[in-house]
Order: sequence, then C-alpha cells, then structure tokens
Amino acid sequence: MFKNLKPVIAIDGTAGSGKGTLARKIAQILNFDHLDTGKLYRYLAHLELKENKKILDIIKYKNKINFSEINNLDLRTEKISSSASIIAKKREVRDFLTKFQRNFSSFPPSGNGSVIDGRDIGSVIIPNAEVKFYIDANLEVRSKRRLKEIESPEKNDVLSYNEIYKQILSRDIRDKGRSESPLKKTKNSILIDTSFLSPEEVVTRALGEIKKVF
Ligand code: C5P
Repeated sequence: MFKNLKPVIAIDGTAGSGKGTLARKIAQILNFDHLDTGKLYRYLAHLELKENKKILDIIKYKNKINFSEINNLDLRTEKISSSASIIAKKREVRDFLTKFQRNFSSFPPSGNGSVIDGRDIGSVIIPNAEVKFYIDANLEVRSKRRLKEIESPEKNDVLSYNEIYKQILSRDIRDKGRSESPLKKTKNSILIDTSFLSPEEVVTRALGEIKKVF
C-alpha cells in the first residue's frame, strides 16, 4: 500500500546537482509524470520581470496566472535563476505554489505516480513521499556543469566560470539559509553525491533504492 493517493518520488537538492536530469529519467523509466518545481518559481520570476510589478501584487490575482506557456519560455537564464531564488523566500509565494504541487502529486496526468524535484518536496510539500532523495555535488563540479550548459549555442548568457560559481554559491546560501522551507536533507532522505558519478550511475543508484520500496 502507498502512503499517498499515487506514489511520489521526491527529489530535492542544490542547483546543478543533477536532480532535474535524475527526475526526468526516473519518470520516463517508471512511466510516472515529472514536475520540475523550479520552473514554477522561475515562471513567477519571469512574470515579475516582464510585468515590472512586485510578485506579491501579481499573485494577488492568483486565478489569472496561467502556467500553460511555461514550457515555451527560456527560463534558465542566470537573471531568472537569481530572481527565482529571491522570490522563493516569500511565504506568500510558497503558499501559492504549494496547492499546485500537491494537486499534481495526487492527480498526475498519467494516473501512475509522480517524480517531483525541487528544494522542499521531501521536507514540506510531500513529507510522506514513498521515496525521498537529496542530491548534491561539490560547488566546483556544479559550476562546471552549469557553464557547459550555457555554452550551448542556443543560450544567450555570456558568463565566466567565476561569475557562475559566485551565482550558484549565492543561490545555495539563499536556499539553505531562508526561514521559509529552507533546502535541507530530511532524516529519511537518501543522499546521493553526484560529484564523481555519471548521470547513468546516478539513475542506477536511485533505481536500486526505489526497488527496495516498490
Ligand atoms: O531548481 P531550480 O534551480 O530551477 O530552482 C530555481 C530557484 O527556485 C531555486 O534556486 C530556489 O530558490 C527556488 N525553488 C524553491 N523551491 C522549489 C524549487 C525551486 O525555493 N521547490
């Protein structure tokens, strides 16, 4: 028997740790739905920049926010990353997104289950998720991965390794140090340090843990 209406795999971790890649792959393998909750925060940051209004004024009219364009936008710029982690400190913003995330976990489109990645999934959003992971890697490795990602021709960010390193470090400090739902490993989350593992090795390790539960 599952603890949730539909089984949930919660994946939390630091920026650039590989949690998103892991979540996507696991969802594909299990035929579950993947929710990248970072995208929700990034979308709100995008709206704030686009509409030039404070986020609290935007979410006042909550029912007017339509997430349908979320997959058609480039939300992975460093500007949006930083703004997302600033607005993510606000309780009102987190409360607004909580319902959406819990609803996704109870009614995943496939009807099978969900893999949800973020910062507070195993600690606050779905604390009784069937399997909980905490994914991390050292800061140097995470900065190099991010640099490689933005060096791809379709991205417009031109940043040096040092700038990326500093931005990820500031984001770590904000995400772990905030009073509202800080990023932290819960007691019953499984830690995977991806610093010296390939994406395939991370998936194999995670699937091994999932098989123990399912
Ligand atoms: O995961 P990603 O790097 O896309 O998230 C962008 C920012 O959104 C994070 O740095 C974090 O501040 C915030 N976030 C959060 N809680 C989540 C997902 C993302 O606070 N569940």
